[in-house]
Amino acid sequence: MDQALYKKSIQLILDNQSQWGSYIASPNFPTYQYCWLRDGSYIAHAMDTAGEYESASAFFNWVGRTIKRFSYKVDEARLRLSAGQPMGKDDLLHTRFTLEGEEVYIDNTWGNFQIDGYGTWLWALYEHAKKSGDFGILEKLKEPIEITLRYLELVWNLPNYDCWEEHPEFLHTYYLSTVYDGFNAAEDMIRLGKLDMRDIPVEALAKEVRNFIFTSAVKNGRLIKYFLPPNVEFERRLIGNDCVDASLLAAGIPYQMLSPGDPVLLATIKTIEDDLYRTGGGVYRYKADVYYGGGEWILLTAWLGWYYTSINQLDKAKAICQWIESQADENGWLPEQVNEHILFPEHYDPWVKKWGPVAKPLTWSHAMYMILFNAITQG
Ligand code: BGC
Repeated sequence: MDQALYKKSIQLILDNQSQWGSYIASPNFPTYQYCWLRDGSYIAHAMDTAGEYESASAFFNWVGRTIKRFSYKVDEARLRLSAGQPMGKDDLLHTRFTLEGEEVYIDNTWGNFQIDGYGTWLWALYEHAKKSGDFGILEKLKEPIEITLRYLELVWNLPNYDCWEEHPEFLHTYYLSTVYDGFNAAEDMIRLGKLDMRDIPVEALAKEVRNFIFTSAVKNGRLIKYFLPPNVEFERRLIGNDCVDASLLAAGIPYQMLSPGDPVLLATIKTIEDDLYRTGGGVYRYKADVYYGGGEWILLTAWLGWYYTSINQLDKAKAICQWIESQADENGWLPEQVNEHILFPEHYDPWVKKWGPVAKPLTWSHAMYMILFNAITQG
């Protein structure tokens, strides 16, 4: 276990937190000069596992202000959806923002409608309150929590971009598990008297999302990456992709949509291990990944290690941690992906030409490494 790299990771994240509380995804990669709700929530959680509560709290307050700023979109979306009017891709809450918290319009083709970050921030916020003992933050952020819950209630079953910002025509099991746990976290906050909010049926919503996942996202005894919405005609529905995606690990940890011994979770993990884990190396996103040739992702490798810690397979978790540590460069920077054993070599150069070398450092990679490190050392 590389204490020095762990400490550098904390410092790197602090250095890349803006004065407003947001975290930049990667300071050196032009396309990632923004703050994503997804990346940022895991980063804040990593800081919480390191006892850096102030940093995490600043992030959650930034999210709160940002969501309030755009809450009018939720009201408009409700009116449009109930009138059966089509939604444009910018009519919903965005996935990434400038560091100040404004929407980004530099690239009109970006898939802004991604639901998962809105579930993830509720999970991370509740974990923050429990870890830091600052339950007061929940009442303080009551308004953005409520806006988020109403938003999720409205949009949870609409097709949207996945966590890799692809395939907007599908519903994705990963984001549904974040939504499930977002409702669940709210239910806990309310039941335990930490948040006074009575008129959103969070418990029923969590159940509904979970049942929906079981009826739509389980095939051959395991979870699948994505599927078409139920209202799409039958022939098209057959064109699904039964493959796994490494993000499905999240159904186990941290969102606990399935309990550790659940056969569906075990079968899903086994397929991820067989199809996406290069033994002794890292974890690929999914089999058909061509982004920068499809390399091994540091954050997903750490995620698999995190899962192993949750089932007490510490040796496996430590081996994974060591592999990640061996990928840090001379500055102690971890990349988004490692490209020595890529799935589609012919796709590597075109991406380098388009966006430059692979993002490094990626703050989310450092965060997942920290989460794994602390799961191993703190038990
Ligand atoms: C990844 C996203 C991530 C973003 C910023 C994208 O390439 O697919 O998951 O949020 O980069 O790190």
